[in-house]
Amino acid sequence: MRMYDIIKKKRDGEELSTEEIDFFIRGVTDGSIPDYQISALCMAVWFRGMTVRETCDLTYAVRDSGEKLDSTKIRGIRVDKHSTGGVGDKTSLVVAPIVASLGVKVAKMSGRGLGHTGGTVDKLEAIKGFRTTLSDEEFVSQVNEIGLAIVGQSKQFAPADKKLYALRDVTATVDSMPLIAASIMGKKLAADDDCIVLDVKTGSGSFMKTVEDSKELARLMVDIGKNAGKKMTALITNMDRPLGYAIGNSLEVIEAVETLNGRGPEDFTEVCMTLAGHMLSLAGMGTVEECIQKAKDAIADGSALKKLIEMVKAQGGDASLIEHPDTFEKAKYSYAVKAPRAGFIGLVDTERYGVSSLLLGAGRNTAEDSIDYAAGILLRKKTGDFVQKGEEIATLFANDEALFGAAAETLLSATEISADPPADEPLIYGVVK
Ligand code: URA
Repeated sequence: MRMYDIIKKKRDGEELSTEEIDFFIRGVTDGSIPDYQISALCMAVWFRGMTVRETCDLTYAVRDSGEKLDSTKIRGIRVDKHSTGGVGDKTSLVVAPIVASLGVKVAKMSGRGLGHTGGTVDKLEAIKGFRTTLSDEEFVSQVNEIGLAIVGQSKQFAPADKKLYALRDVTATVDSMPLIAASIMGKKLAADDDCIVLDVKTGSGSFMKTVEDSKELARLMVDIGKNAGKKMTALITNMDRPLGYAIGNSLEVIEAVETLNGRGPEDFTEVCMTLAGHMLSLAGMGTVEECIQKAKDAIADGSALKKLIEMVKAQGGDASLIEHPDTFEKAKYSYAVKAPRAGFIGLVDTERYGVSSLLLGAGRNTAEDSIDYAAGILLRKKTGDFVQKGEEIATLFANDEALFGAAAETLLSATEISADPPADEPLIYGVVK
């Protein structure tokens, strides 16, 4: 079998066989297929798509490309949540401690930033000392002891996805339904959780721009999971605007901590409560409504925040940053982006907001880039708010003043200001079971 022929076949719109997909993933994993051929096939898939059968084969090949977590070592029911990626999406930092504080285990493997979206692992690494790499034994024993651990994907776990993820990130091939489904579900099946809640983002800041595409992606992933014996739910949530006000790693950790203190932004809090409610309900803790109430109680009585602090301590992080989030290292410079005219903030191009944050140093342009944890954006106004001419709509933070020009221009050109208020959009478009 030759990789050249597989690329050509997909380029020409034909269906790949199970053997060809297995050959591809084996070659990605053992390094025998060069990056340029892997990237070329990803691009061919981006243009031509995959059938459900091909997507399932790709998912299983990704799952089987490395070791699987020995779930029998973890006591109790385990539930996981995975987002398809958004801007300002720091939900894992809130929902995982809520769910764990209520006695359901969360053994979570998270990703890094991808394209214009942020990643939970990068956010956690903004906490000084926090170890996102644990040995399997440490991971399992931490989950058994405190009910919660969040780590990055280890080398031996779905290694094909790790390689694909990094290449897709720099070759404009992230926003492909089969590649997203195989990436997420390949990892989730290898992690072998009992219950999985997917947060499928929809809109300008997500990889799926329309509600229809997001529902199709949700259906595909839910069916893959159910076929593998998992309890599955997917929520379709709005990413036509950033979630909350903070974009950028330490800024988002601070906002997550505020939310666990009961002072979170309304939109972000609602998405977190709904996700936590579905996670707890899948794990058998009651109806979704009852579980949303339990999640709210875990915020109100401080137990969810306590759980986050416990996890940060267990993974070597400086928990004083969580107790006193104002002590996070600040960026050296800030810059106020001002409204060029008066009016209502209308639709924003949320992807461009994510790019603006990347331009400030909060994300990567190439797989090798390092991240500036203090860089990012604090929004002062969001869709629906009225602004006066010259009023601040966002504050940018960076450690290099030269970065402000392009970032401010990107953010402003992505912001519509109009005479009429925009139409209301739902925050949660639906649930796929
Ligand atoms: N999250 C993933 O883990 N993979 C993708 O492809 C997109 C989002």
